[in-house]
Parts: sequence; C-alpha cells; structure tokens
Amino acid sequence: MINIVGLGPGNIKLITDKGKAAIAQSDVLIGGKRNLQSLEEMFTGETLEIGNNLKEILQFIKVNYLNKEITVVASGDPMLYGIGKYLSEQLEEGSFEIISGISATTYMFSQIPMNMNDVYITSSHGKIPNFPFILAHEKVAMVTDDKIGPYEIAKEIIKSGLNKMMWIGENLSYDNERITKLRPEEVLETENYEMNVVVIVDEK
Ligand SMILES: C[S@@+](CC[C@H](N)C(=O)[O-])C[C@H]1O[C@@H](n2cnc3c(N)ncnc32)[C@H](O)[C@@H]1O
Repeated sequence: MINIVGLGPGNIKLITDKGKAAIAQSDVLIGGKRNLQSLEEMFTGETLEIGNNLKEILQFIKVNYLNKEITVVASGDPMLYGIGKYLSEQLEEGSFEIISGISATTYMFSQIPMNMNDVYITSSHGKIPNFPFILAHEKVAMVTDDKIGPYEIAKEIIKSGLNKMMWIGENLSYDNERITKLRPEEVLETENYEMNVVVIVDEK
C-alpha cells in the first residue's frame, strides 16, 4: 500500500494520529529533506529523499508497493500545492491513500485569525504569477518560493495602485514563527523573508 501523508506546517505535534500511524507502519519513508529530518526521532527505517528525482521515486514506488508499505510525506496538506497532485495522477486508482494534513495556509488563517471564506489560494512556485488577476480578489493567500515572495508581491501591489494590507507568516508552527501585518511599503523595508505564506486583503 502507498500512503501519502500531510505533515502539517512543520511542528510534529500537528501531524494527525492517522498520519503518525501510517509513518510508524512504513517500511520506506519518502519525502523532502526538511520533512524527513523532522521525523528522524519517529522513524528509523529506510528513507528516500525527494530532490530532482521524481521520476525515479515514482518508479521505485511502482516496483515496490506490492510488497512494501511505502509512505510519502509532504508538508502541509499533500493536495494543496503538494506532491499529492502528481502522485494521484500517476499511481493506479486504489493503490494509495491520501491522509490529509493541516496546510500552512489554513494554519496561517487560524493564527491571524481570519476566516477563509472566499479566499483565493495560489502559489508563486516555479511561475510568474498573474498579478492583475490575483490582486482583483479581495482576499488572497499565496505560498511563495525564493524568487517571488513578500518583497516582490509588495512591489506589484504598489505598482497596481490598489489599497491592500499584507500578513506574512514565516516559519509557521516552528519556535521561530513570525507573523507580521504590514502595508506593502513597509514590506519593502526588508528584502528577504524566511519560508512564508502571504495573505493579501483589501483595505476598506
Ligand atoms: C510546495 S508548497 C507546499 C504547501 C503545502 N502542501 C501546504 O499545504 O502547506 C511549499 C510552500 O508552502 C509554504 N509553507 C510550507 N510550510 C510552511 C511553514 N511552516 N511556514 C511558512 N510557510 C510554509 C511556503 O510558501 C513554501 O514555500
């Protein structure tokens, strides 16, 4: 069997009991470096690190899943800008179970706190976001990468002339979590932000 487990935003206390049970029963644990490191005390069996080797990982899973319990761990929720999309499209129906986790995005909204009704959720990973479309929404949540993050988003908001407020959630759920509410002009005072989710809301 193949399990695809969402680990939540990072703090291992936020992994669901069902996710923990799947990890504990696994013969092989597959995941990104940060995720595997976070489980070092919980899992001491065979691990495979995901890097630029997704095709090889997929092949390994296909060859081994009938005689090994394989768990792929993903940050947050696997089906929200995570590996769940790719694996669920590539693996045979019925061969896998997806165990949902708390997304960094939903965690962020609980900490602000702000309701998620009508939020437009998007990502800047590996693409140039369509800012005119994104900023037309009253409430947006964006997971970011190291190319397009809070600084670049703030510049786009200022360029648009729209009146928006930004919340930046860095290292969510970790000891060094930092959540700041800033105007775009204030965001530009810092160039580099750590791993973050950005919420952008219309100022009334
Ligand atoms: C590929 S996406 C995965 C999102 C994940 N599936 C989820 O549901 O949270 C990775 C991005 O999620 C955000 N992220 C994940 N964990 C985070 C955390 N603990 N604190 C802040 N942002 C986080 C960052 O924007 C990071 O670049």
